[in-house]
Order: sequence, then C-alpha cells, then structure tokens
Amino acid sequence: MNYRFAGRMKRVPESFLGELFRVSAVPGVISFAGGLPASDCIDVDGIAEAARQVFAEEGRTALQYSTTDGYLPLREFIADRYRRRLGLPATADEIQIVNGSQQSLDLAAKIFIDPGDAVGMERPGYLGAIEAFSFYEPVFHAVPLEEDGPDLAVFESVIRDHAPGLFYGIPNSQNPSGTTYSDRKRRAVAEILEGSETVFYEDDAFGELFFDGRPRVPVKRYIPEQTLISGSFSKIIAPGMRIGWIYAPAPILREFNLAKQAADLHSNLLCQAILNRYLRTHDLDGHVRRVAAVYGEHCRLMCDLLDDLMPAGMTHTRPEGGIFLTAALPRGVSSMEVFHDGVREGVAVLPGVPFYVDGGGKETIRLNFSAVGAEEIVEGMHRLARVMHRLV
Ligand SMILES: Cc1ncc(COP(=O)(O)O)c(C=O)c1O
Repeated sequence: MNYRFAGRMKRVPESFLGELFRVSAVPGVISFAGGLPASDCIDVDGIAEAARQVFAEEGRTALQYSTTDGYLPLREFIADRYRRRLGLPATADEIQIVNGSQQSLDLAAKIFIDPGDAVGMERPGYLGAIEAFSFYEPVFHAVPLEEDGPDLAVFESVIRDHAPGLFYGIPNSQNPSGTTYSDRKRRAVAEILEGSETVFYEDDAFGELFFDGRPRVPVKRYIPEQTLISGSFSKIIAPGMRIGWIYAPAPILREFNLAKQAADLHSNLLCQAILNRYLRTHDLDGHVRRVAAVYGEHCRLMCDLLDDLMPAGMTHTRPEGGIFLTAALPRGVSSMEVFHDGVREGVAVLPGVPFYVDGGGKETIRLNFSAVGAEEIVEGMHRLARVMHRLV
C-alpha cells in the first residue's frame, strides 16, 4: 500500500531517539540518556490522598467535559505563584493549561509558523522543540549558547536580518546544556527584541529547580507583551499527570485557545483537579526545595566524577539547576561511538546530534543526573570513564 502521507512528515527529523532508547533500555544499563525526574521525588501518597478527596467531593464535575482554558482554581494557583515568586503581575485570565508544556510547543508552532518562516533557536536547542516546530516547516536560525546565555552578536543579527516571528529559548538550566542566562544577557536579549516583531518563547521547564533556591528574573519581566512563558509540573510534581501551562498576553492566548480547542478540547480535568487539590494541601515550596537539593547533590557528584575520571580534553558545563549537563568530548571522539561502546559497557548517554538544527553535536553528549541515584552515578561514571579512556 502506498500511504500518501503529508509532505510535512518528510521535514521532521528522523527520530533516532526511539532507537537509542530501545538500545539503551537493556537490564543492567545505567542510563544518563533520558530526562525523567527521580521517582523517589514523586509524592505518590500525597497525590493519592488528593485524588481520593477529589472523587469524594467533586467527582461528578471533575469527570465531566470542561472549558478549554483549564480548571480555574489551578490557573489561579499558577498566577498567584508568578506574583509571589517572580513579581510578575499574572492573572488567571493569562494562563492556559496544556497537556504538558510539550503541547505548548506544538500549539505555538501551529499559530506562529507558516512553511518557510524564520524561527530562532538556541544552539544546541531542546530537541522536543525542534521536533514540534519541524512539523510546521520553518527555517531555523540557530544562535550559539555561551556559558552565560546566547551569543548576543549572533542573536542580534538573527533578529535584525531574519525577523523571526518566534525565538525559542530556555533561560533557566537549559536542555541539553544546563546553561543559565546571566542577568546581563536576559536584559540584553530583551533590549534587542524590543521594537521587533519577534515573540520570545521563554520555556521555563526548570526555573523552580535552581540548587541555590534563588529565582532568576524572567525575560518576560522586561518585555511582557512580547514574551510567552511555558511552565510545567512535570519536573516538580509528576510528569505522568501531563499538566503544563502557557502564560501569555491576551491576544496570543486567544490563538492558543483556538488551537488547543481543535487539538483536544481541554486537558484532563480530573488530573487538573487532583493536582490543584494536592498543591493547596501541601507545601510546594518545601517539596521543590527537597527535589532541588537532591538534584544539586547529584549534579555536584557527576561534575566531580567527570573532573576526576575522564581523559584530558573532556569538558562539561556546570549547571546551576535543572536535570541535565552537556559534556564536550576530546577531539576526534564521536558521540555515537561513545553511545554504542557505552551501552556495551553498561552505561547510556545521549549523543548531542538531535539538539542541533544545522549539523553539529557529533562531539558532545548530554547527561541526565535526576533519574539515577548517587550510587548509580558513581558506578555509571566509572563505566563511562573506561569507555572514554579506550576511545581517546
Ligand atoms: C525544556 C523542556 N521543555 C519542555 C519539556 C516538555 O515537558 P512536559 O511536556 O512534561 O511539560 C521538556 C521535557 O523534558 C523540556 O526539557
């Protein structure tokens, strides 16, 4: 049968990730390749109790259809947290619940990107965004990430010369690099964008997870009408609930709402009600502090072992938060070789390739430090060191 798939399907990068995850999902392999939060950090009992209360007290409404924008008490909780944590004047009207923040990437692409449109991205960039955007056939313009955020000269020329409708960035603990924009670069990015027609898509999947607990100033603070933020409960509560949100100016949110309605009418109301109940009966700040402390310890341990065990010429980022870091391999060592030899040695890493829209990533690997315990980090880093010393 000749299936006549739409032409856009050919524009989507080949998903060799599925293959990589299959290869690395062998029993006994310690995986730094994925991006899961620690299972131990998910408060199963607390969520179960919240679910019990929802079924008992609002089961009939929570199991009904609902509005596209999402469960109002949850949107109020999110808006209130923006006001208290970040001093942003958010209201529930500016919040749209989505099915994980991954959905907001798809919806943003749907409402902002026509085939051939310019889209700005960080280099490396989050592969989930590259995949989601690629369905809408943009021309990507990549801006190299430096230690403290985007290369401002390249950023400025992309905005000036290509006038993208959207620039997608992750200022806090970026995936895959772990990089955080400095305060200076946040202001500079906003200054460059101001007066242009480019909307800054500020993906804030990790902003709650700074190891020092200090919130960073969002770019949205400087250019509120030109920025949309996406956020997520995946990394701080539980990814299986699939609840994220968009915080955006009203005209943008109207388009999101239309696009979301066509996609799925609304996000799972039962989960929204359970999550809202959980958040209002538990200490989220305390929970986030505990999760960030665990990830901070894992990150320090991984960084120290990389420093101590790996061959000369291998360098890595030193994240201030989040769940990923990126390592640059010694000259001449390929990330695919490290992947394949690693799996044979019992350790999985993620080659950098899918994070680059313009080639690249062949000499970098992404390492996740949230899903694995301290003992596994120690053992996994020793296995990786054996692989690296063989390959140099
Ligand atoms: C930067 C970034 N954005 C968005 C997502 C999507 O997460 P979710 O849909 O679970 O909110 C992820 C997942 O890892 C991510 O790393």
